[in-house]
Formats: sequence, structure tokens, C-alpha cells
Amino acid sequence: MNTILHPPTAVDLVEVAPRDGFQSIHELLPTADKIRCIQALIDAGITRIEIGSFVSPKAIPQMADIGDIVAAFQEHTGMRFSALVPNLKGADRALAKGIKELVFVVSVSESHNQSNVRQSVDSSLEGLKAIAERLRREKESVGLRLDLATCFDCPYEGEIQWQQVDAVLGKARDICQGIELEVGLCDTTGRATPYQVANHFTRLRERHDSAALKWAFHGHDTFGMGVANALFAIQHGATTLDASAAGLGGCPFAPGATGNTATEDLIYALQGGHIDTGVNLPRLLVAADAIAALPGGQTASHLRNVPRERVS
Ligand code: COA
Ligand code: ZN
Repeated sequence: MNTILHPPTAVDLVEVAPRDGFQSIHELLPTADKIRCIQALIDAGITRIEIGSFVSPKAIPQMADIGDIVAAFQEHTGMRFSALVPNLKGADRALAKGIKELVFVVSVSESHNQSNVRQSVDSSLEGLKAIAERLRREKESVGLRLDLATCFDCPYEGEIQWQQVDAVLGKARDICQGIELEVGLCDTTGRATPYQVANHFTRLRERHDSAALKWAFHGHDTFGMGVANALFAIQHGATTLDASAAGLGGCPFAPGATGNTATEDLIYALQGGHIDTGVNLPRLLVAADAIAALPGGQTASHLRNVPRERVS
């Protein structure tokens, strides 16, 4: 097929249903059901999974069993499991469980950071400093993903300019000197447009591109822009995309936001550009069905509604 666009030959796909998705379900899910869904994702060829978060169980009770879930997959050597941490305590807990990739989250907007992690952005960055110091002392290398929430829009403050992202990213990079980073620009509310995504990636790459920094895009599909935003992100320098099977999700700290872009919808689009993700779409739909069957979840997926014989 001749295409005018030149897509990358491959992207890294991070499945986030076990973290961003499960956390949105109020009723506690049995640990065994979570493990079964994660196994189905692995069976579909997913190799990077944000497996959960080491947060306060008072803040997110659904994540109280994260230690047991990580333990259930400790033999899966070919996998990259990451876990979200909001502070040093979370990082210590994750490292003690053998997690080799931490996802540190801080919002660009003060009000969302306050609502999400009950502290100022500067206070979160102090936490990042403590985590960076801990990582420099680790004998084995541990990856660090920096998730910048509300990069495009904040539920309380509205549109976010790239210069605001630049300010927080600049401080975070100073703190993380000597550590390889993957920076995730997160459309927490799903309100970004592809043009805003292109603009942010272009401007921020002009300021921050370096061999020690990779770019990721984490999108929600609230306004139906999720797949388009992800495609614009990879055309403008992102090498990693987050998505959630069945589109499960909705941030409990971002009123009105729905789930992440459905992994199956994104894979379909990527396949159209011959972009390799290693994921088998029919098997992914099996995993997405299992996730959609969990009680209490809010899902949104186009491909799950298409007759299966039309999906290859
Ligand atoms: N893991 C487990 N427990 C933790 C913890 C962590 N990472 N961080 C703090 N705690 C515990 C403290 O030990 C304390 O316990 P205690 O009451 O038994 O003494 C309690 O939580 C409160 O600690 P404090 O430091 O006062 O935190 P806080 O109440 O101000 O909450 C966070 C701050 C960051 C811990 C909490 O808001 C949180 O976990 N948020 C996560 C939000 C999230 O996951 N959002 C979605 C991702 S974008
Ligand atoms: Zn999210």
C-alpha cells in the first residue's frame, strides 16, 4: 500500500487497563479476576503492562491487592511490568515487590495535582527527587516513566498551554539528571485535539529532545479523539502509546473523563499503517471481552461492537 504519510515501523504499546481501568471500578474486584484479565492480555501478545499502582489504599481501595497481583506474574521474564507511584513510599513498596519500571505521576495543573495526590506540584517534585536519589542507589537498573497529567486540559483550569508543561518538565528533568526517562504527555480528560497534541509534542521536543529521553502519549477518549490523537502523537515523536482494552476507565479525580482509548481500536488503526505492536487483534478482543465483563466497569470500544468476522 502506498501511503503519503510515513508512519514509524513499530510503536511500544502499554496496556493500562489494570491500572487506569481497574482503579475506576468502585466495587472491589476479586484479585483472581484481575489476574485472569492480565493473563488474557499477555496471551494476546501485549508485552508492556501498567499492572497497577502502589498508592494509599485509602485513596484507591481497588489497588490494595497490588502486591499479590505483581507476585502472580513474577515468573514472566519477557514482560515489562510497570507500576504507578505517587511518592517515595510507593516507590519503595514497588521496588520491594521486584517492579523494574516506575511510573511517577505529577499533574501540570496545581488544582488537579491537589485533587489527585493532595499536594502542590512542587511538593510532588520533592517526592520525585527522593525517588530519583533512590534509583541512583539501585544496583539493578530501574526504568522511570514520568507521567505528566493534565498536559492538554485540566478539569478545573481548562486548556493547558505547552509552556506550562515545559515548566514542569524542565524541573523534573533537572531532578532526574543521569536517569533515562520516558515522558508521558497525558490527556487526562480526553479533551485534546490532534492539532493540540501535534503542537505540544513539536514544541516540547524542540526544548527537550535528547538521547536519554523517550516520548509517550497517554490518551482518553472522552471526546472521541483518542485514536486520532495517538496517531498524531506518533507522527510527532512519541514512540510509546498507552491504551486500555475495552476502553475501560475514567479518572476518579477528573470529573467527566471517560476511559482510555480502547487498545483494540488503536491496534486496528496502527495495523492500517503496518505499524508493528506485536499484538494479535482477535486475541486482544478476547481479553477486552473479559475486561468488559467485569462488574461495575465503564467501557467504550468501537471494535468490540463490530461483528467478529469483520475484524482480522
Ligand atoms: N502506599 C501506601 N500507603 C501510603 C502511600 C503509598 N504510596 N503513601 C502514603 N500512604 C499512607 C501513609 O502511610 C498514611 O497512612 P496512615 O494513615 O496509616 O498513617 C496515609 O497513606 C496518608 O498519608 P499522607 O502522606 O498523609 O498522604 P495523603 O493522605 O495526603 O495522600 C497520597 C497522598 C499521594 C498518598 C494519596 O493521595 C494517593 O495515594 N493518591 C493516589 C491517587 C491516584 O492513584 N490517582 C490516580 C492516578 S493518576
Ligand atoms: Zn489516564
